[in-house]
Amino acid sequence: MSKLWEKTTGDSSSDLAKKVEAFTVGNDYILDQRLVPYDLAASAVHAEALMDAEILSETEYNQIVEGLEEIHDIWKKGEFQIRPEDEDMHTAIENHLTGKFGDIGKKIHAGRSRNDQVLTAVRLYEKDMLQLVLQSAVQVAELLISIAETYQSLPMPGFTHTRKAMLSSVALWAGGYAELLMMQIKGADGLYSLINRSPLGTAAGFGTTFPINREKEAEKLGFSQPIICATTAQLSRGWVELQLVQYLSAMSSVVNRLASDVIQFSSEAYGFFDLDEAVCTGSSIMPQKKNPDLAELMRARHSRITGHVAALQTLTANLGSGYHRDLQLTKEPVIQAFDNILELLDAALWLISSITPNPENLRRACTPELFAAEAAGGLVMNEGISFRDAYRIIKENPERIPKSTPDEMLKEYSHLGSPGNPGLSALKKELDKLC
Ligand code: ARG
Repeated sequence: MSKLWEKTTGDSSSDLAKKVEAFTVGNDYILDQRLVPYDLAASAVHAEALMDAEILSETEYNQIVEGLEEIHDIWKKGEFQIRPEDEDMHTAIENHLTGKFGDIGKKIHAGRSRNDQVLTAVRLYEKDMLQLVLQSAVQVAELLISIAETYQSLPMPGFTHTRKAMLSSVALWAGGYAELLMMQIKGADGLYSLINRSPLGTAAGFGTTFPINREKEAEKLGFSQPIICATTAQLSRGWVELQLVQYLSAMSSVVNRLASDVIQFSSEAYGFFDLDEAVCTGSSIMPQKKNPDLAELMRARHSRITGHVAALQTLTANLGSGYHRDLQLTKEPVIQAFDNILELLDAALWLISSITPNPENLRRACTPELFAAEAAGGLVMNEGISFRDAYRIIKENPERIPKSTPDEMLKEYSHLGSPGNPGLSALKKELDKLC
């Protein structure tokens, strides 16, 4: 079978031609396997547009759709082949149609280019994957809120500069991560609207003289609208992807920090959290070790996603308008970033469910200096002096810090979002709106 642009001059079987083919195709034919269903969906909609424009007859359209469905079935069985010599899925799909229906198969490539095809397939894939990511993130937020509820009134030291600072609670700790994650989820709205515009019909990047209805194509594919200017389509390639992967990196940063906390708080030095054996590994030399490898590799997954951001930033820098083959390499960072974030969110569920706070150690760690700021605050309230003076009095007379237990101190907090009132019902209301 031939390429869509098969040369009529030159020797395509020469050594050099083969090396250039391997270099330019790279792993694109492998990555395209993920995108096949989306390219098929876009091809069916394009074929319908060609029928509406009277370029394909109804019979031809029906045959093409039948061929596309057949490819989908083969793909679902894992048997649809894209070979390096096909270059990509677009060619493999068209070759299959031509092999089956002859000239009818060739007719579908009117008024389109692989430039708008790949972009349409990628955007459809991104929409689906983003939904999966958001669903997983909601589950993580849910789990964090349930941990907060279970350990509602368990005190815990709060740290600044990794040094003991003030009284906190397990609920406030878990609630903080849940809220940040929910803010992140909510922040997907703007991103989604960038992805949700159809590039189909922009062809090589400048439209086509075929009278196709791009608005109808967009609607059929479930996009909110078409990208308006054909030139915007290729300008948006890599630009949307960069913002998408930046978004995923911001999301993974939340889990990254959570993993760091878990590593720290479950270490012998703190002993705040016991970790289930299942999420820990041992050492080949030190029999006593229970290492938090899962949490460490979760942090590293975030670093990887952030590396994909850098790849997209550099790939698109200095590219003028129009299609450039450089853009092919924007596919891999997106696919890998999605794979990484989904794995990471799954791992977050395993890690969070494996935490058992240790009440004894947590209470023991809530030593009175955690109440120093509140003791100064007490002088302000009861003696009407300035906070500056109260601060100095407590610093010079630490014995004036109340000898209350952390549980008693917890009850002193009443305002929303404080250790004694972490606002879990407000968080739950926000979560319900996201589901
Ligand atoms: N694999 C290519 C990509 O992802 C498909 C588009 C090829 N277009 C071209 N003009 N060579 O960009």
